Amino acid sequence: MYICNCNALTDKQISAAVAGGADRPREVYAACGCKAQCGCCTGTILAMVREGGAARAG
Ligand code: FES
Repeated sequence: MYICNCNALTDKQISAAVAGGADRPREVYAACGCKAQCGCCTGTILAMVREGGAARAG
């Protein structure tokens, strides 16, 4: 499922970036080799980062 239409990032790519240690939306974009464009997806990515961080913290 596409989360970021501007950069064609899927939930799987974002989850992989979070699992790889990205703990801010900016780091998720960087890990995927892109940057925020319109910013519409930032809230969703932030939620995924928080969930991923909580999961890593146990
Ligand atoms: S949808 Fe992600 S930057 Fe526009």
